[in-house]
Formats: sequence, C-alpha cells, structure tokens
Amino acid sequence: MKGILLAGGSGSRLYPLTMTISKQLLPVYDKPMIYYPLSTLMLFGIRDILIISTPNDTPNIEKLFGNGHIFGLNIEYCVQNEPRGIPEAFILGADFIGNDDVCLILGDNIFYMGQQLNKFREDVDKYAGQKATIFAQKVQDPQRFGVVEFDENHRVLSIEEKPANPKSDYASVGLYFYPPDVVQKARSLKPSARGELEITDLNNLYLQEKMLNVVVMPRGVAWLDAGTPDSLLDAGQFVQIIEKRQGLKISCIEEIAYRRGFMNDEQMQQYINSLKDGYYKKYLQKIYEEYHETKYTTAV
Ligand code: DAU
Repeated sequence: MKGILLAGGSGSRLYPLTMTISKQLLPVYDKPMIYYPLSTLMLFGIRDILIISTPNDTPNIEKLFGNGHIFGLNIEYCVQNEPRGIPEAFILGADFIGNDDVCLILGDNIFYMGQQLNKFREDVDKYAGQKATIFAQKVQDPQRFGVVEFDENHRVLSIEEKPANPKSDYASVGLYFYPPDVVQKARSLKPSARGELEITDLNNLYLQEKMLNVVVMPRGVAWLDAGTPDSLLDAGQFVQIIEKRQGLKISCIEEIAYRRGFMNDEQMQQYINSLKDGYYKKYLQKIYEEYHETKYTTAV
C-alpha cells in the first residue's frame, strides 16, 4: 500500500496566515500540521509516501522530512502547480502508485483514532485490490463537506459535495483508500462548476460500479479538519488538552517510528542526539529510555 499526502491548495480560508506559508506548515499546538496526517499514514503501516504540495512549499516540507529514511520511511515529493482538485493527486502520482493500492490523506485532516485504527485497517484490507474504502463521520455542519446519504440498511445512496441542503449529517473525511484503477478513474474526471476535479465525483464513480465501501467512524474517534481559523484553533486546543493530561504526544512521528520498529535503538538515539536541546528532545529521550527499558525487560 502506497500513501499520498496532499498538502497543497491555496489555503485562502486562512488568509492572511497562509499568504507566505502553506497551511500544512502552520502549528497545531506543538507541531506543524503536516505531522498529523503523516502520522496517520504511519499508524496504518504505510511507509512509501508521496507528498504533493505547491511550488513554494514543497522545498520547505522537504527540509522537514528529507527522504524520510531517518524515520524508516521512503518519502518522495511532487509539485502541484495549481490547485486543480484533490483527485489530481492520483494523476500526478501515477508512476509512484504503479500497480499498488493507495491511501490518500488530506494535509489538513487530523485523526485521533486510538485502538479503532486496527479495525479500520481490517475494513480496508477486506477489499484490498478491489473496492475503494472511504470513511464518514457525523458532524454539525455537513454543508462544509462531502455528504454521504445512507438508507435504513446503512447502504450508501449518494455522495454530494458541499450541498446547500445536506441529505444527512455524515461528512466524508479526508482519508481514502483505492485500488490501482484509481489513476485511470481520476484521468476520466471533468472539472466541476468551481473548476476543480472533485474527490466526490471520483467516489461516485466507485459508488455507481458498486465498488465503494463506506465505513462510519464512531463517536469515540476524533476527526478535525484545520482549514479555517476556528477549526485550526480547535485542533490546537484538542491536542494541547490530551497531551497535557497524559504527558504523551499525539502524532509524534519519531515516537511512532520507534515504537513501530521503523527506527531501531541506535537510529533513535542518533536522531535524538542530533536535535537541539529543548522540550521535544527531552520528550523523545524520555520515550526512548522508557520504551528501551521495557523492551529489554520483557525480552528477558
Ligand atoms: O476535509 C474533508 C473534506 O475535504 C471532504 O469532506 C470533501 O469532500 C473534500 O472535497 C474536501 O473538502 P475541502 O473543501 O476541505 O477541500 P480543500 O479544498 O480545503 O482541500 C483539502 C486539502 O487538500 C487541503 O489541505 C488543500 C489540499 N489541496 C486541495 C486542492 C483542491 C491540494 O493540495 N490541492 C488541490 O488542488
């Protein structure tokens, strides 16, 4: 399974914050926003990742992660010259995807899934190579999103992009899994009235062919999109509350890489030593010592 992280766009809903920097590099409490979707891909076990962003921001994102090898990842980069729509990710990423399944995550979508993630991975794996799997969650303001309509048997009837009169409260979240034919399907799309290729049109192609699996994210899962001033602040406050309470970080990519075995002890220690002193280094050192100790105690 390959992963694409789409981190471009104009960010116009966050002007003037995003006049000189992309929204995915803005802070969500203590990390750049892009850490959160990247960590979701990692938690799904995806290690081959293509990051797509603007001509201006791609070099800055590359400065953050490089080729990803230090975190046990393979990260490639691709420039999207104009925000021509979310499904363009599959056209730009065609060679990267090859004959594999692919997960797309939007750069401003933040998930806090806990143990539920394992169930979601099973939901996706059940249809690997065949059907697309997308996720929906109940929201108060469905008109801001792609909206999924279900019948009484939980079968999907329609998906509409930002409808003025939503047929349900279920928003389609920015996390999508597709079989390799997504590239061909994305190429067949035509721009919508607002001049963009629409992810909802792509999902409707799978729906028409009865090849779309929609999984509802239950209420225990937090899904935040940080694309407006209010939702950016909400996301930061959410992360702050959980981290302060538990003393554990959300979406700390180094911690995830280490705990998942993408980085070994030596790599983690080297990485920590390379950081400048500060709270992040202290946190990683603490995680390293605690985890390192339990790993070896358990092994004995
Ligand atoms: O957040 C989930 C929603 O994301 C879905 O419910 C909608 O169906 C989907 O269309 C999308 O709606 P948004 O209005 O939030 O999309 P937005 O234009 O903000 O783009 C989402 C992310 O993708 C954002 O991080 C910018 C990036 N992007 C977007 C476009 C259109 C690109 O990198 N390139 C693009 O061409």
